[in-house]
Amino acid sequence: MTYGYAHKNTGEAERKSVTAQFNAPRVSDVIAKIRENAFSREIPIADDETLNFLGTLLAAVKPKKILELGGAVGVFALYAAELLKDAQITVVEKDEKFYAEAVQNFSAFGITSRVFPVLGDAGEVIGRLSGGFDFIFLDCAKAQYIKYLPRLKELLKKGGVLAADDVLLFGYVAGEVETPKKRAMLVTHIREYISAAVGDGGLQTTIVNVGNGVAVSVKL
Ligand SMILES: C[S@@+](CC[C@H](N)C(=O)[O-])C[C@H]1O[C@@H](n2cnc3c(N)ncnc32)[C@H](O)[C@@H]1O
Repeated sequence: MTYGYAHKNTGEAERKSVTAQFNAPRVSDVIAKIRENAFSREIPIADDETLNFLGTLLAAVKPKKILELGGAVGVFALYAAELLKDAQITVVEKDEKFYAEAVQNFSAFGITSRVFPVLGDAGEVIGRLSGGFDFIFLDCAKAQYIKYLPRLKELLKKGGVLAADDVLLFGYVAGEVETPKKRAMLVTHIREYISAAVGDGGLQTTIVNVGNGVAVSVKL
């Protein structure tokens, strides 16, 4: 079974930054195989440049407690677990098939004692998680980012990092590329997220032009 990338389904061009050619993550053969397999089925996992950037953030922050919203088949969590041997990672995914595959991958990788997969809707799950995360990777339901932000701030420790993926959305959000009508509302919501994160006095935020754009916010 293949899962179409949104931009492949809609004819949207893949957007590559000028740095993409230099930025590739170092991963074990096992993770490389899982990534290749996911890409071949068009599962929308983090591209090379984004994963590598997240790896650099993880190496700098050295989080002990990570939350990922939108885990798909578990690639980011596997990568984070490989990089940080004592990190605990909570992974929320609402698609039952992706969730089951992620659970299988975590088990094969021998990390079930420190990776906690949760099947459910991120908006609902974050309401019942206890906090203390020092790294949150927000990578699901882009239109909901703005709704999630206040709760994610509560869940984040002081000094913790919130990385929100795809905030430049194929160039639409910054106006480099004209937004198709059907994406207009999504672009509005992502712009709201950016304004809220950048304007929040409790956060220090930079929008980074890697992959499809990552908003990196540090809780002050
Ligand atoms: C871009 S993919 C995640 C890729 C993953 N973070 C990685 O890089 O390996 C987004 C995932 O979010 C999931 N998703 C979408 N809306 C969601 C929601 N409201 N709650 C939880 N998961 C959601 C989708 O099923 C999809 O697997």
